Parts: sequence; C-alpha cells; structure tokens
Amino acid sequence: MSTVVALREPGGETRAALTPEAARAITALGHRVVVQTGVGTSAHYADAQYAAAGAEVLEGTPLAAALRELDLLVHVVPLPAERVAALRPGTITLGMAGATDGGRRAALADAGVVPLAFEQLPRSSRAQTMDVLSSQALAAGYRAVLEAAIRLPRFFPLAMTAAGTVPPAKVVVLGVGVAGLQAIATARRLGASVAANDIRPDSAEEVRSVGATFIDAGVGSAEAAGGYARSLEASAAQAQQQVIAPHIAEADVLITTAAVPGRPAPRLVTTDMVAAMRPGSVVVDLAAGTGGNVEGSVPGADVRVPSVRGGGEVVVVGLGDAAGDLPTDASRLYAKNVSNVVELLTATGPGGAPQLVIDPEDDLLAGLLVRLEPEGAR
Ligand code: NAI
Repeated sequence: MSTVVALREPGGETRAALTPEAARAITALGHRVVVQTGVGTSAHYADAQYAAAGAEVLEGTPLAAALRELDLLVHVVPLPAERVAALRPGTITLGMAGATDGGRRAALADAGVVPLAFEQLPRSSRAQTMDVLSSQALAAGYRAVLEAAIRLPRFFPLAMTAAGTVPPAKVVVLGVGVAGLQAIATARRLGASVAANDIRPDSAEEVRSVGATFIDAGVGSAEAAGGYARSLEASAAQAQQQVIAPHIAEADVLITTAAVPGRPAPRLVTTDMVAAMRPGSVVVDLAAGTGGNVEGSVPGADVRVPSVRGGGEVVVVGLGDAAGDLPTDASRLYAKNVSNVVELLTATGPGGAPQLVIDPEDDLLAGLLVRLEPEGAR
C-alpha cells in the first residue's frame, strides 16, 4: 500500500488535485489517501465528503506524520520550493511541475524527488483520460465566452420580437485547439454566429464540425510533431493578419486561444486591430498569462482601448486563470486525470500489495517523468 497525499494549494489556487470521487477511486486501488483539512474548500468539496470516500483528513502533527510516509504527492500548480524541500528523497510528485523553470528544476533535483509533469504528457488517444491540459482548456474555453457575454452590451442570440429584431452577435475565435473548440461550441449554444481561424491543417474541418465558419488565412500547414502548431514565419504571420483583420473589425466578440508549446503565445492582434472594432466590443485573451495573443492584454485585468469609430471603447479582457474560476468542475476533471495516472502507476508488489511503479517502458509514464540533472552536472 502506498500513501497518496493532496495538500491545500498555495497562492490562492482554487482547484484541488483530489476530489472525494478521485480519493474513492485511489483508495479502491488499494492505496492510503490523505488530504489536508480544507483541501477542497475553495472548490466546494467538504472534508466530510473526503472522509466518506475513504480518505484521512489530517492537519498538524498527524499530517506531518503522514507526510513522512508519503509516496506520491499530487498537486495542481507547481510546488513551492519550501514544500519540495520538505519531501523525502524518492517521493513521486504529480501535477503541473513547471519544470522548464531552472530554479524549480534545481529545487526538485536537490530534494531527490521524482517529478511527473502533466505538461509533458504525450498527446495520444491512450493519454486522453489523463490530459489535464485538455481538461483545463475545456473549462477555460467555456469561461472565456461567458466573460465576453457578460461584458457585451448586446445579446448573443437572434431575437425576433414585437419590439423589433436583434441580430445575433458575431464572434471570432483565433486558435482552435481544445479551448477554442469549446469557445465556439459555447458561443454557438448562446446563439452567436461564429467564425474561427487556426493554422493547423485539420482545423478547418474541426471548426465546421462545431457549426462555425472557417477563416482561411492560407497558412494551413503549420503543424509540428504531436499535432501541435509551430511558429509561423514572419511573412505568413503578416498574411494571416491581413486576412483576419476585417473579420475582427466586424466582430462583437473576439476570443483568442492560440499557443505554440514551449514558446510565448503568438501575437496575432495589434492594438490598431482592436481599436478598429465597434465601441462596446469585447476581446478575451486566454493567452494573456503566457505572452498574449492580443497586444496590451494584462492577465486578470480589463484594459480599455478607444474605438477609432468613436462612441466608446473596446474592452480587452486578459483571462488569467480561467479554469480556476470554475473550481468545482475544473477540479472534478483534473482529479479524474490524476486518479487515472495513479491507476497507470499501480502495480502489484511482492505479496500482492499494490505499489506505485514508474514503468520506463510505458510511453506515457516515460513522457511524464522529468529528467533532472544531478547537482554535479549543473
Ligand atoms: P494549444 O493550446 O497548444 O494551442 C491552441 C491552438 O492555437 C492550436 O489549435 C494551435 O494550432 C493554434 N495556434 C498556434 N499558433 C497559431 C497562430 N499563429 N494562429 C492561429 N492559431 C494558432 O492546442 P491544444 O488545445 O493543446 O490542441 C492542439 C492539438 O492537439 C489539437 O489538434 C488537438 O485536437 C490535439 N489534442 C490531442 C489530444 C490527445 O490526443 N490526447 C489532447 C488534446 C489536444
């Protein structure tokens, strides 16, 4: 039997790495599950629900004792250095490791822990049940549309009434991965008319399949390994901008979700393009925290840009932590991803007891594993 622990997340993070449902799934695998008191409070899961699911809910000295027996620490955001330093060498950690940051890598290596980084999970059909980037992007794409709808001084749907006809809102989505597709689906459900652009070859068909019009910028071959996009050459980026600019100028809502793994988010929209939109229009930049698709967007803030058409401003919403704004369901999905990895890690040890084993032959586990340089090699 291994001890699996989830602690309260640091820094105002609202999501929890384990829900009661995930705790139940992990105890059913034969492991001991320990959660810190209040681990699910900000995601609206009560301590009593964890206890009813078979987890031990601990604080203070009993929690410290459990941490000495810890085998796997599951978390959402990258672990703070002091938390890493307190771990026993050999402890496995599973979460968003943020291990591209040199300081974090060094802290993990110094503590001798074995980090599994969700952001390194290979993208394959077998990996889908463990893919937190997808599950959290789904929440973010949905949230982006609601943030826009609440700020827009217009209706989303067509309304034909005795008092006249209100046309449907026009929504443009740039970047049609998991978040973008969910944004399209959500905007369509609210009744908007939606057009979208992406640079992967498959994206045109994906956009049409969710009921939106594809904006073809003529650069539809920018796909790198693993189904991700690669950065565009400057000339292709310019051509893309020319094609999308008139669509943006006529949009009531623009939602941007474009990302290229390992790079800052591509800058797709200039302040001039924002200023060309009608007053009252809303731009939501889901990439605000990773470099920004929209010039001047600020994570967690609304920035107002005067419209060149007069009559007011365009609001640019920098979405910081969109999944964290839906903590109950974002945690439900995240924790299910976690329990699916724990299941993959679980092997039968000597005497039939379940134990956690990182099988290097398993491509998903090998992909998750962060390879750390020993101190001497740094
Ligand atoms: P992402 O978050 O890395 O990027 C979002 C979108 O931005 C992507 O569709 C990308 O093509 C697009 N983009 C990048 N640069 C752009 C630019 N200059 N202009 C316009 N769009 C740009 O993407 P995400 O959501 O992680 O999905 C990437 C691909 O992986 C998709 O094909 C998705 O269906 C696939 N996928 C596969 C999974 C699996 O098999 N386990 C799980 C999740 C996604």
